[in-house]
Amino acid sequence: MTAEPILRARGGVHSPVAHDSALKHVTGEARYVDDLPEPRGCLHVALVTSRWAHARLTGIDAAAALALPGVRAVVTAADIPGPNDIGPIVPGEPLLADGLVEYVGHPVAAVVARDYDTARRAAALVTMEAEALSPVLDLREAAARAHYVLPPTVFQRGEPGPAIEAAPHRLRGEVMVGGQDHFYLETQAALAVPQEDRDMLVHSGTQHPTEVQHMVARLLGLDMNAVTVEVRRMGGGFGGKESQATIIAGIAAVCARVTGRPCKLRLDRDTDMEVTGKRHDFLLSWDVGVDAEGRVLAVDMTLAARCGWSVDLSPGVVSRALSHADNAYYYPHARLTGLFCKTNTQSNTAFRGFGGPQGMMAAEAMMDHIARALKLDPLEVRRRNFYAPGRDVTPYHQTVEHFRLPAMLDALLASSDYDRRRAEIAAFNAGSPVVKKGLAVSPVKFGVSFNKPEMNQAGALVHVYTDGSISLNHGGTEMGQGLFVKVAQVVAEVFGVDLDRIKPTATTTAKVPNTSPTAASSGTDLNGMAAKVAAETIRGRMAAHAAELFGVAAGEVRFAAGRVMAGNKVLDFAELAELCHVGRVALSSTGFYRTPKIHFDRTTNTGRPFFYFAHGLSVSEVAIDTLTGEWLPLRTDILHDVGTSLNPAIDKGQIEGGFVQGLGWLTMEELVWDAEGRLKTHAPSTYKIPTARDVPRDFRVDLLADAPNEEATIFRSKAVGEPPFMLAMSVWLALRDAVASLAPAGWVPPLDAPATPEKILLAVEAAKRS
Ligand code: MTE
Ligand code: MOS
Repeated sequence: MTAEPILRARGGVHSPVAHDSALKHVTGEARYVDDLPEPRGCLHVALVTSRWAHARLTGIDAAAALALPGVRAVVTAADIPGPNDIGPIVPGEPLLADGLVEYVGHPVAAVVARDYDTARRAAALVTMEAEALSPVLDLREAAARAHYVLPPTVFQRGEPGPAIEAAPHRLRGEVMVGGQDHFYLETQAALAVPQEDRDMLVHSGTQHPTEVQHMVARLLGLDMNAVTVEVRRMGGGFGGKESQATIIAGIAAVCARVTGRPCKLRLDRDTDMEVTGKRHDFLLSWDVGVDAEGRVLAVDMTLAARCGWSVDLSPGVVSRALSHADNAYYYPHARLTGLFCKTNTQSNTAFRGFGGPQGMMAAEAMMDHIARALKLDPLEVRRRNFYAPGRDVTPYHQTVEHFRLPAMLDALLASSDYDRRRAEIAAFNAGSPVVKKGLAVSPVKFGVSFNKPEMNQAGALVHVYTDGSISLNHGGTEMGQGLFVKVAQVVAEVFGVDLDRIKPTATTTAKVPNTSPTAASSGTDLNGMAAKVAAETIRGRMAAHAAELFGVAAGEVRFAAGRVMAGNKVLDFAELAELCHVGRVALSSTGFYRTPKIHFDRTTNTGRPFFYFAHGLSVSEVAIDTLTGEWLPLRTDILHDVGTSLNPAIDKGQIEGGFVQGLGWLTMEELVWDAEGRLKTHAPSTYKIPTARDVPRDFRVDLLADAPNEEATIFRSKAVGEPPFMLAMSVWLALRDAVASLAPAGWVPPLDAPATPEKILLAVEAAKRS
């Protein structure tokens, strides 16, 4: 074959193109569920929720609400045509409470009215009577009383007991790691529109359209083919719209069935925070045997998760916590126990990292404990405990391969000038009585794939039109992470056309069926591959037709720069599309993909749950004020592994955003419930998320260069959605480092997460007393 001039279309894989909706996001043209034109006769829904943390309902009085002009219905559990259950993994999670309420905020009824204000006013008029039962509100109490939603689960390799006893040093410690509200900018919303034949169309802000379809069908007593769920985009999901969106969509759909009218339910911020689940807070404890150099010989850890009132996605979250409680470190003997603690609070759910961050915090807090207790350098202790690739096996018995952290660490220490700054900070602290600085490094090794092998599959549907424009659909949902543009880049690459020839279309259960949620960071890995298969199928047919028309071998037909080259013949992609249509060649195809190599036995908690690992490292420097506990993020350097990036601009955005969200989790976002179980932090006035001012003053993010992923991955890239979130652990560790500078060596700072100014101040006081 003759060498072609290197002509590339614009916006193929690896180019740093902008998010497909970036302009629409900032101009306000991007449509979210609440922006859709309301269908004629649309009604509005407001929730009536429990004010008891735990109670048996004895009566609901809706007379006053129904008497208000404009109110059309008050819907309760009794109005649900099918089974009142939306448990995503384990049955037993009613859509609307029936008899028993299990947290303050538990939806009991829905008021449907002609407008939103009327619905809200009427909801406040619904009264309930109940016999209060005693609630369990505290995680520690639930763990101590073995008050669980599911029995404990264990990951084990080797026999830690005797090895811990025989070790030169034995350390026991614990850390409390707080929960986190998703605080997506778009609160939860759904619009259900009745169709002919009792079918239902639901516009839902969901990461999991198939689950909404499945549950709405069940609630309404319909076949799945009678329910269509559509989502163009979400204004952030972060895991909070994986199972939780089903509550909102389910209630809207039941209201639409009862009234026969389109019904919209959108939550205001306070209601969203009071009703929906959050990140699980965890009580993490370890009993570890180490040698004199700080190497772990054996460890017994307990990870107690606050699941809230119901199971929801907790089996997956706790499993991922256990499978990340090693982080980057080899434990020769390990027993990791996960506890599913039940409390009468919101049912905790998926949140960026899906338990992984909490599991890693056990590893990082333990490494810090080991280093400080043994008067060793924390960085050195981490390095000594790193996995040796190809040799070491995880607590779930997967051999660690392609482990990139040791080389990445050397690179980051050099680029961040670590040694010099370490010495400078020591000198600074010696001469600064009030302000103390801290510096810390933390690694991330994050397993990519859903822990449940059957979830690792995806489908796509691609059409080429006769003008050469391309319509792209797949099972993944767009929540701001840039999935749509990345998958469009893949399709542009396959056809060799400019990115603007491709239109990503709203996700709908009518086009691609039986999809997995867009979660576990695998949106691009799975949907990108499915779309690639679909596009390659069509390209293969187009190539065969061109070969026939122009008398060349199909392998000699090339697609590049918006053109098709068949021997000496060069034509526009659109011309060939038109010729294919005339030649009756199908220009539409589905594509399907399933991840290879993975397997996991849920009875023994062993296997190869992850296709590969994503790696990252961060170095953070902070300064604390020892009189107030306030602090500043001075500088953070990140080196992150995204394989060969599909889109470096989007990937950098994910790394920066993930890091800042993690920083919020570990330092400022604090959920507070009162003694009655009422969430006191349910608006930005009381719940502090990071703002532009909380970004490190000096913030340097680099993508690991020349690091292609395994061959069978989408253009050798790596998933990026969640792993960077955990890079913020270096900030929390740097705060500990700053506090520790006030005490003699050997002292371990008692600092939980979130490390708020109050907690930092208390730790400072403890350091001064030590
Ligand atoms: N980025 C933005 N802007 N908004 C989001 O809601 N969710 C995160 C991450 N990045 C999120 C985000 C979470 S929890 C996951 S699992 C991934 O994106 C999901 O998308 P992906 O699989 O396409 O990366
Ligand atoms: Mo992300 S927590 O897997 O939606």
